This record gives sequence, structure tokens and C-alpha cells, in this order.
Amino acid sequence: MRVHVADHPLITHKLTVLRDENTPSPTFRALTEELVTLLAYEATRDVRVEEVTIQTPVTQTTGVAISEPRPLVVPILRAGLGMLEGMVKLMPSAEVGFLGMVRNEETLEPSVYAERLPDDLSNRQCFVLDPMLATGGSLLSAIEYLFARGAQDVTCVCILAAPEGLAAIEKAVEGRDVTIVLGALDEKLNEHGYIVPGLGDAGDRLYGTV
Ligand code: PRP
Ligand code: URA
Repeated sequence: MRVHVADHPLITHKLTVLRDENTPSPTFRALTEELVTLLAYEATRDVRVEEVTIQTPVTQTTGVAISEPRPLVVPILRAGLGMLEGMVKLMPSAEVGFLGMVRNEETLEPSVYAERLPDDLSNRQCFVLDPMLATGGSLLSAIEYLFARGAQDVTCVCILAAPEGLAAIEKAVEGRDVTIVLGALDEKLNEHGYIVPGLGDAGDRLYGTV
């Protein structure tokens, strides 16, 4: 498994505002989108392309185009939906599938409540969007789901992660082609399974149910 933690002052600046409990939902949503576009640049570094020939006004030349089958972007509902626009802005030709997951706040076990994905993901590059990687349970279920359908490789874009969750995913996906791109790797999980220092409940902060 490859892990890339963003190291850029603009990302850290935007993250600081995102973490602030006084940041209201509209600003939180706008910043999430901006952060994802910056992270998406790194996350799509290995997107598959093929050579194409084009005619400029001056001459014929070669370039590249994103290969078929198109990459699949999968936001994990609810909070991952706040990341979708930021990702497809950078890669508008991607297809989008949806996975709805919720974590039981007592047991911290995730469950799937909605799914709208292509049946066959053979040879597909998949990009999973979920802002928070806490225990890693939700993201791992999503990764397993996509590999079970034949995905070739899975890249996850998360805004924050806890070391405990990252280690759990690394152990579970051993030998498979998984990349995790993070805005920041935080300190730890607290006794309620929240990321510390974190930003609180990402879904509530995005959609205003605080
Ligand atoms: C949050 C978050 C992740 C999950 C992370 O979703 O968006 O999906 O928790 O926790 P984990 O790593 O311990 O599994 P939540 O279940 O709160 O649902 P929501 O997106 O609808 O708010
Ligand atoms: N889900 C969140 O939204 N925040 C956390 O800190 C952990 C899980």
C-alpha cells in the first residue's frame, strides 16, 4: 500500500480553517471542495492514459487521453459527497458510482445502506472519496467491495486519517494495489473513535446537522 501525505502550505492553511469549530457549513463545504481538487492532482498521478494523435493549427502531434474503461470515482455517502465536485472538476470524464455507508457510533462497525456501482469493475481504476479515515472500517469495506467486483486498483482520497486506521488498512490490503492520499495524518483516535485533533463529524459539519 502506498501512502501520500500532502505537504503544501496552501493545503495546511485550508485544513486549519476546516478544523476550526467556528467555521460555518457553507465555508466548510467550499474548503472541502478546494482541498479535494488539490489532493486529486496527486491522487490521479498514475491515471492510465493512451497516446493520441491530434492536429494543432500548425502541425500534427501526439499527446495523451485518459484510457478506456474510464476511471470510476466513488464518494462514500454521506460525507464523501462533499468531495465529489472537487474531484470531477479535475477529471470530468470519470464515471461516478455511489456507496452509502454508516458507522455504528457504539460498536464503530460500518454497514452499507446504498450501492449504485457498475456490476463489473474489471480493469477499472477506482478513486474512493471519504474525508475521514478513523478506525478505517468504512474505507476498508469500500475497498473490499470494489476489489470483489474486479477493480484493478483503488486510490482513496481522505482529508484526515488516524494512524490506527491507516495501519489497520495497510495490514488488511497487503499485496493489493491500494494508494491512500491524505491532507494530513493526525495524532490518534480518541475513546469514541474520533480523530484527534480532527475536525469533528465531517458529515454533520458539511450538511449542517450540528
Ligand atoms: C464517517 C466518515 C467515514 C467514517 C469513518 O461517516 O465519513 O465514512 O465515519 O470512520 P471509520 O474509519 O471508523 O469507519 P459516518 O458513518 O459518520 O457517516 P456520514 O458520512 O453519513 O456522516
Ligand atoms: N467520522 C467523522 O466524521 N469524524 C471522525 O473524527 C471520525 C469518524
